[in-house]
Amino acid sequence: MNKLRVALIYNAFTDAQPDEKADTGSLHYLRQMIRGIARGLRARRHQVTVMPLAGDLSVLQRRLDRLRPDVVFNQYDDVVHGALYEMRVAAFIRMLGYPLTGSPALALGLSRDKYMSLSLLKGAGLPTPPSTALIERLRDLDEHKWTFPLIVHAAQEHAGIGLDRNSVVETRTALRDKAREVLKTYKQPALVQRFLKGREFNVGLVGGRTLRAMPLAEVDYSRLPRTIPPIMSYAAKWVATSVEYKRTAIICPARVDADLAALINRTAIKAFRAVGGWGYGRVDIRLDENGEPIILEVNCNPCLDSGMGLARAADRAGLAYPDLLQAIVKAAFEGPPYDMHLPIFKTAGEGRPLGR
Ligand SMILES: Nc1ncnc2c1ncn2[C@@H]1O[C@H](COP(=O)(O)OP(=O)(O)O)[C@@H](O)[C@H]1O
Ligand SMILES: [Mg+2]
Repeated sequence: MNKLRVALIYNAFTDAQPDEKADTGSLHYLRQMIRGIARGLRARRHQVTVMPLAGDLSVLQRRLDRLRPDVVFNQYDDVVHGALYEMRVAAFIRMLGYPLTGSPALALGLSRDKYMSLSLLKGAGLPTPPSTALIERLRDLDEHKWTFPLIVHAAQEHAGIGLDRNSVVETRTALRDKAREVLKTYKQPALVQRFLKGREFNVGLVGGRTLRAMPLAEVDYSRLPRTIPPIMSYAAKWVATSVEYKRTAIICPARVDADLAALINRTAIKAFRAVGGWGYGRVDIRLDENGEPIILEVNCNPCLDSGMGLARAADRAGLAYPDLLQAIVKAAFEGPPYDMHLPIFKTAGEGRPLGR
């Protein structure tokens, strides 16, 4: 691929960001990751301009119009609870006429709404957790016959937000308490579903028209004290000083039977395609009591930090960090099926027409 002009955009809105040293979800770490992405793209000879976005889209529009990038590398991530701004920013960039990395607006919005995306996956005949229910008011809890244990999520969050030691519940009282907390704290519905106790896997996916599964990663909870539920909670994901973080390990490549790995990969690819994901993604899967893979969620535009998550899995497949970023840029020009090149602003960049 030729040398391209790349605009690397990220969310620099600060108010809602936790900014403690031990919290690797903080703005400090985000900036570090953005610098790493810029370095990785420059290693492939692209000309990178980093553009923080802190609320005013018209400023971004002007900067893009001046730069006229060949492609916008999207690292815009919501930080406001329950917000679906990721999809708005993605739609805006495409309306301006610039090719955009990762998933289109529709997939970003859909995958952030866990109930909607799980309903869609279920409708498409894919395996989802049993008893998945949306709780908009506490009295909705009375409409179901529950089989415990259950897990209670905030329905529109990601990155472990809202998940803690009390999220897996064994009794009606604990269920009610946690659902009440979610409704109150996150001001959004709670999502309740059967807690699956089996092994947990992450499937990294890379590519546009040709989507490739990276070597499987397994979440290893075996060193976690029995009093802490084996889940990827906020602490396990981000808080380096917590027991959850220190005692949860990722094994990549996972030690898993080839037939099971193939089934997990096929399931993940179908799920990513079903929500309209593109370019790169990560599907979280857990085995049920019969050893069947069940989809927990599809992550469109998952974290791209080097050495972790998708980047680690890609590395195990021989895709070094700059190669992974290059594959993501390449996919942006292949264009998701319903994402036409149709700029609707007069001043919009010509960009580059998507390759269809
Ligand atoms: N139905 C479930 N059964 C068992 N564990 C679950 C279930 N749903 C979520 N989890 C656990 O919680 C973690 C986070 O849930 P997930 O749906 O992936 O949301 P997030 O967007 O916060 O990553 C998962 O990685 C898994 O460990
Ligand atoms: Mg997840």
